[in-house]
Amino acid sequence: MATIAPPANPGVQRPQVRREPTAYDALKAHFAAHPEQRLEHTHPWDVSRSDIYFEDTWQPIFAEMRKAGQLHYIPESPLGPYWAVVGHKAIQHIEALPETFSSSWEYGGITILNRLTEEEAAASGIDTRELPMFIAMDRPQHTGQRRTVAPKFTPSAVTDMEAEIRQRTGDLLDSLPRGEVFDWVDKVSIELTTGMLAILFGFPWEDRRLLTLWSDWAGDTELATVREMDQMRWSFLQEMGAYFQSLWIERTMDKEPGNDLISMMLHSEAMNQMRPEEFMGNLVLLIVGGNDTTRNTMSGIIHAMDKFPDQRKLFEENPDLIPNAVQECLRYQTPLAHMRRTCTEDTEVFGQTIRKGDKVVLWYLSANRDEEVFDNPDKLDITRENARRHLSFGYGIHRCVGARLAELQLRVLLEEMHKRRMRVHVAGDVERVRANFVHGFRKLEVEVTTF
Ligand code: HEM
Repeated sequence: MATIAPPANPGVQRPQVRREPTAYDALKAHFAAHPEQRLEHTHPWDVSRSDIYFEDTWQPIFAEMRKAGQLHYIPESPLGPYWAVVGHKAIQHIEALPETFSSSWEYGGITILNRLTEEEAAASGIDTRELPMFIAMDRPQHTGQRRTVAPKFTPSAVTDMEAEIRQRTGDLLDSLPRGEVFDWVDKVSIELTTGMLAILFGFPWEDRRLLTLWSDWAGDTELATVREMDQMRWSFLQEMGAYFQSLWIERTMDKEPGNDLISMMLHSEAMNQMRPEEFMGNLVLLIVGGNDTTRNTMSGIIHAMDKFPDQRKLFEENPDLIPNAVQECLRYQTPLAHMRRTCTEDTEVFGQTIRKGDKVVLWYLSANRDEEVFDNPDKLDITRENARRHLSFGYGIHRCVGARLAELQLRVLLEEMHKRRMRVHVAGDVERVRANFVHGFRKLEVEVTTF
């Protein structure tokens, strides 16, 4: 297989980091030892519970909620009260008002989890200063920092990456075992997405799986308190920070600025106003943002095509449908189930009064199945005319900056599969992520045949 390794600078020492288990595995082990610590969700519409995503039983709950209205107040939840926004219209409406609905970490950030209180932090010894990332910032800081990375994701910059992506994808597909069952998540989805990130960052190729280890924070939210989770997360973040610091030092020693994201950020104008922890936070954001999401779509495509063989047949007969199939698979999978906002002033949305300080959770998973927008929404339909209206990348000023790159990787994967006349069947265990944020697969055992 071709390996396109960025050059290493021998002058810089890498810090010692653990290589396993992943943060997710560490949590899984924790729960196996302490099952009593799982949270109890009593409200029937409390969709912050993660068992419904693990068991794939969330669809009728959200359908019932959508039927009753665009958004609902959930007064009781172990993660505190929150507004569940379930309609496509209401999510777009809220995301178009970033001043009233803040993403800022100061208010609570972008996931349904609450920050630790000062007392909790003091008791657990965790440093609660979050790594600042522009996804959890409001204007004007958000605008300046987003600009440092946006040039890497323009249409022409992304087109420039196509040949490399195609080569790497094709080589990987050619190396897959035939006539035997293997895990698509590990062999394909993880390998392709970590490889892409390693190239984007000029990250040492031999260490690329560390990117999975660090970003694999699938957010099992079933903890009695968020303290244990924050402790684990913090220790992983620290390791990641130390490693990236070594890369940063390396890049500052380079005579000519490279074309990788770290060099681009270092040499950007906004960098002069960025604190070191902001620089680090934004690197972490790009890694986490670009990793689980694309990976879970690559797995979701295979699972969905297997579930809807008529659609797989259409794809096999007509490769011109591939660009639309990518959009439809993004809609159908919805790799991030939600994003959160916090209301900054009393306001009315679709007849409901949201108060200052309220937590507002935008369930993309539900918007993408909204029957007012998508006919027969629970069916994969790669010919769907309005598949592009999905909200999997969000909407408004925070809409995913890496969307084009993700779409390109997914399109190339389908094209290269088609070229090889590859048909992938689910042929063994399917394990989903137990989380209410990242929506995807831990394991997907498959077998490859030919059509
Ligand atoms: C933001 C989804 C791939 C980097 C977001 C948001 C979503 C999302 C839902 C928040 C939007 C909002 O708040 O309105 C996805 C999905 C992906 C994907 C589903 C793959 C299928 C990527 C890739 C990268 C990336 C490949 C980069 C390598 C980011 C960044 C942000 C972001 C930096 C923050 C944007 C901002 O706050 O302005 N993404 N993403 N994402 N994503 Fe992605």
